Amino acid sequence: MEAEFWLQRWRDGGTPWNEGAPNAALRRHLHRLALAPGSRIFVPLCGKAEDMWWLRQAGHDVLGIDLSPIAAREFLGGHGLAYTESSGPRHAAFESPGIRLLAGDFFALEAEDLAGVDAVYDRAALVALPAPTRQRYARHLASLLEAPILLVSMVYPEHEIEGPPFPVPESEIRALYEGRRIRHLGDEDIIARSNLRKRGVTQLREHAWLIE
Ligand SMILES: C[S@@+](CC[C@H](N)C(=O)[O-])C[C@H]1O[C@@H](n2cnc3c(N)ncnc32)[C@H](O)[C@@H]1O
Repeated sequence: MEAEFWLQRWRDGGTPWNEGAPNAALRRHLHRLALAPGSRIFVPLCGKAEDMWWLRQAGHDVLGIDLSPIAAREFLGGHGLAYTESSGPRHAAFESPGIRLLAGDFFALEAEDLAGVDAVYDRAALVALPAPTRQRYARHLASLLEAPILLVSMVYPEHEIEGPPFPVPESEIRALYEGRRIRHLGDEDIIARSNLRKRGVTQLREHAWLIE
């Protein structure tokens, strides 16, 4: 997926992946990360997910990154938060107490950008990327930090639509994160509440994984 594809969607206001409410699997499984209060959670390809607000309300620090600065402005502005904007060598940064959102390329992140991160929450990040980029994503994430990942992925009949989002089966998750302990936390039929139904998807399950 080219950056321009995503940037244009943000400019057009076309963000159908945005749930507008905290993700059900996040709410159900966050405790599996066994985080101390005030832990710092990295949210790659964060968009303006309500999940970040929920994590903040749960007492955690949030560090997100998305290509589009519109995502950061809409998230912070949408919650009535006062924030500062600054530009760095690799990313612009939008900051409010306990929430730091970077605007720029995930693949340009360096380890120092993620200093202090205790865990990763990935919902609709891995599955937003085509297969070769998913490999690059998992490799880059591993090069940046060693931290447990709460991954929320999805599976649907691959032939039904052209991604994104892409279905990512268990075999691929195990290959991408080979060498790590991977636990399936649960899965749920989410077709009834998914916008993918309108695109022609007939079966859709969301899976939660803990990668340690
Ligand atoms: C499917 S959306 C998911 C957003 C969010 N995680 C959620 O659950 O609502 C994928 C997001 O990834 C962002 N994105 C895609 N490629 C990226 C990259 N290389 N670096 C940073 N963000 C990227 C897009 O702008 C888009 O907001």
